[in-house]
Amino acid sequence: MRRHEVPAPLGFCGLKELRFDERPILNLFYRFAPAAWGNGYATEAATSVVGWAAAHQPDRPVLARVRPDNTASHRVAVRAGLVRAPHLDRAGFDGLDWIYATPGSPSR
Ligand SMILES: CC(C)(COP(=O)(O)OP(=O)(O)OC[C@H]1O[C@@H](n2cnc3c(N)ncnc32)[C@H](O)[C@@H]1OP(=O)(O)O)[C@@H](O)C(=O)NCCC(=O)NCCS
Repeated sequence: MRRHEVPAPLGFCGLKELRFDERPILNLFYRFAPAAWGNGYATEAATSVVGWAAAHQPDRPVLARVRPDNTASHRVAVRAGLVRAPHLDRAGFDGLDWIYATPGSPSR
């Protein structure tokens, strides 16, 4: 994501195809430069990406894995239309991941 007058990217956001509990899912990721935080960019980007997935990959759930203390990331996931799926929470690479998913995603 870029702002027209600024050459450096503000950050990035996208989907990665993964298997989660042996099922194909789209993993939502986002990361923005600290100087760009708090301007709604992550929310705008994640909302657009989740909308794209609904239109083009409707059978694939979108999941976001968020560290429990990452308040901004939780807000981005919710604003993008995902809901908490605590039954899917699990250990990630560096600690517990809380899972957010498109409504109606896998129950296990
Ligand atoms: C998480 C991240 C992408 C948010 O980017 P951002 O552009 O600042 O997000 P937005 O401006 O769209 O704000 C999203 C929400 O987070 C809130 N927020 C932003 N910074 C916050 C902070 N430091 N503490 C608490 N809430 C914060 C905003 O108020 C907003 O909440 P609202 O929807 O209730 O108004 C950014 O902080 C980041 O890149 N962090 C490092 C990488 C990371 O953690 N990625 C996610 C991995 S799961």
